Amino acid sequence: MDWVITVDLYEYQARDMFESYGVPVLAGIIADTPAEARAAAEKLGGVVVVKAQVKIGGRGKAGGVKVAKNPDEAEAAAKAILGLDIKGHVVKRVMVAAGARIAQEFYFSVLLDRANRSYLSLTSYEGGMEIEQLAVERPDALARIEVNPIKGIDVAKAKEIAVAAKFPAELVDKVAAVIVKLYDVYTGEDATLVEVNPLVLTEEGDIVALDGKVSLDENAAFRHPNHDALEDKAAADPLEAKAKASDLNYVKLDGQVGIIGNGAGLVMSTLDVVAYAGEKHGGVKPANFLDIGGGASAEVMAAGLDVILGDPQVKSVFVNVFGGITACDAVANGIVKALEMLGSAASKPLVVRLDGNNVDEGRRILNDANHPLVTLASGMDEGADKAAELANA
Ligand SMILES: Nc1ncnc2c1ncn2[C@@H]1O[C@H](COP(=O)(O)OP(=O)(O)OP(=O)(O)O)[C@@H](O)[C@H]1O
Ligand SMILES: [Mg+2]
Repeated sequence: MDWVITVDLYEYQARDMFESYGVPVLAGIIADTPAEARAAAEKLGGVVVVKAQVKIGGRGKAGGVKVAKNPDEAEAAAKAILGLDIKGHVVKRVMVAAGARIAQEFYFSVLLDRANRSYLSLTSYEGGMEIEQLAVERPDALARIEVNPIKGIDVAKAKEIAVAAKFPAELVDKVAAVIVKLYDVYTGEDATLVEVNPLVLTEEGDIVALDGKVSLDENAAFRHPNHDALEDKAAADPLEAKAKASDLNYVKLDGQVGIIGNGAGLVMSTLDVVAYAGEKHGGVKPANFLDIGGGASAEVMAAGLDVILGDPQVKSVFVNVFGGITACDAVANGIVKALEMLGSAASKPLVVRLDGNNVDEGRRILNDANHPLVTLASGMDEGADKAAELANA
């Protein structure tokens, strides 16, 4: 699973970012209505391409990318694209881009390679095909070159990449210059992915980034005050938005067992244990990652439970807390108070496993409270099993 929280940018945001780093891009103007698209086409002049702005691939095939020869056609294209549902993403904005005269299409990306604790660049001289398909069907056409994060991509490295990707000699220098700039975007913005598909050679002989996908590492947001404005809060998952508003470290996943724990390591191993237990109980899976951190006060517990119980997919919740500085009795009081605060909003079974500092007192408090939704588990495996069973009931 992907534990680096990233902010994915829209194509127009990536375009603007590329431009600010000197990556060659074409003019592009965003439009939220067909009339704005017409005005944008008038301003750009000539042939334009109207492009759906959604954070999902395959826009072209879904009818989200249309060529328009004049402002009339641009308006009509925007009318057709705005409101379009592309794999569950409804188009609310288009970008009207200057039309390129494409001679050839290529592929380039640089990304964080977690498995190898390094960066990886993927490059192909053969564009046009979807990259996943290319990787499977023509792996030799996709150059996978490791990029040492300390050394980065200088001109020499960029040339090595272009040569490995089988660019002909006369294009290597030109492509390498663009690759260096794309890497500047990648490191300069603390991205985990910069992808250009397609990177093109125009009839005029220029290398241009015609499409851009950028994912930013949210853990580096403190270094980039401008990143906050790039985040699309309205399109973000509403539960994640709610968690963020309460300063909770929450990531929505796809399963049925809500998880609350203290400490990222404990929460991560709880996810593993629940996923494992779920195999015996109808294949239920963890519904989220939620680390309530050290000071598990009643307020934090209530805010966490509130977010998790608001997920309609959640059928049960596993609270797995190891008492440290905040001892188990305080956590137990937090759970009891949280359930009081939530009242009828707390409607799903809770399995609680407490261990560590003052565990006996913590268990006594929960036993005395005798809340009908709460089951105490004596260990992590037992708790995970019980929570998975309840989720599958
Ligand atoms: N500005 C442009 N001028 C000319 N042709 C373009 C332009 N933008 C895109 N195209 C053409 O449309 C195709 C699809 O565009 P693009 O890559 O932006 O969308 P997509 O690949 O469908 O979307 P995604 O990459 O999100 O899956 C490109 O491969 C290119 O041939
Ligand atoms: Mg593309």
